[in-house]
Amino acid sequence: MSGGSSILVTGAEAFSARLGAARAEGSQVGLVPTMGALHDGHRSLIDRAGVDCDLVAVTIFVNPLQFGEQADLDGYPRTLEADLAACEAAGVDVVFAPSVEEMYPSWPAPVATSVRVAGVAEPWEGASRPGHFDGVATVVTKLFALAGPCRAYFGEKDFQQLAVVRRLVGDLSLPVTVVGCPTVRQPDGVALSSRNARLSPTERRAATVLHRALEAGAAAVAAGERRPAAVADRMAAEVATEPLARLDYAAAVDPDDLSVPAALDAGRPVRLLVAARVGDVRLIDNRAAVPAPAPAPAPAPTRRPAVALSGALGGPEV
Ligand code: PAJ
Repeated sequence: MSGGSSILVTGAEAFSARLGAARAEGSQVGLVPTMGALHDGHRSLIDRAGVDCDLVAVTIFVNPLQFGEQADLDGYPRTLEADLAACEAAGVDVVFAPSVEEMYPSWPAPVATSVRVAGVAEPWEGASRPGHFDGVATVVTKLFALAGPCRAYFGEKDFQQLAVVRRLVGDLSLPVTVVGCPTVRQPDGVALSSRNARLSPTERRAATVLHRALEAGAAAVAAGERRPAAVADRMAAEVATEPLARLDYAAAVDPDDLSVPAALDAGRPVRLLVAARVGDVRLIDNRAAVPAPAPAPAPAPTRRPAVALSGALGGPEV
């Protein structure tokens, strides 16, 4: 611990009380939930919260409920001292870093109550990581309950997570305003993620293929491709050019419920999603794309009269 840092709170009640006292003084509270190993992506959420709010609280909790494999949980980086220093430097007011027992007193016995979001949590990451979003929804609901009325900041990097959180806040009428923040990337396009540290230098270079796949998909959409499956195929083909990458899924989806629309509509934004393993590391990324307006209709023929179509397609040319 960094010399009994004054911003660190480990008790749930103390955390609640601190935020409640700030609100009682009229402060707008900003909440940034994280699992630590903080990088510039997290920092962008903290900075945005600092602009919008009077008090910024960061939570650091490696939530065991959202990990499928024990090895993944055990291997998750834990860098509390560095994270606290980063939070202090960023002007964070409170860091809530509870133990697992503080969050889940019955631990390691299963948590009796959990939150499941149907629909939006089911495809894509939900299908590839069974139980993951139940764990996320449960811990986020609990953090919101402890924090009380606030603005809560989430990254578009985890686009489906953001959609799941928005949905649960709406469905449960939680007194929280969810704010989505853009993905922070490295200069070569790779989205910042604590998982990137697990890539070898060769794999790190190969990881750029996710970003390239999204660019290719967005270019297809901008060029007038209206079939979601064709856009997905274009992204998959790009991932296939990288021998170290294995595609999990690629999709063009509705940004609100993450369903695949029958066709893309001009001017209506769509979200492109991609997930792939690079070596042993599973990476996800996404971006917005806007379908091009339909091409202007060809000018009506001026010299020839309209001809009634009489036969099947491919009939005599008129
Ligand atoms: P974690 O992976 O630590 O991410 C915390 C927040 O930082 C999430 O909202 C995530 O979307 C955002 N973030 C991560 N990388 C980003 C990037 N490159 N640009 C912008 N934002 C980025 O997501 C979780 O933790 C957990 O699931 C949590 C919500 C804390 C629940 O346990």
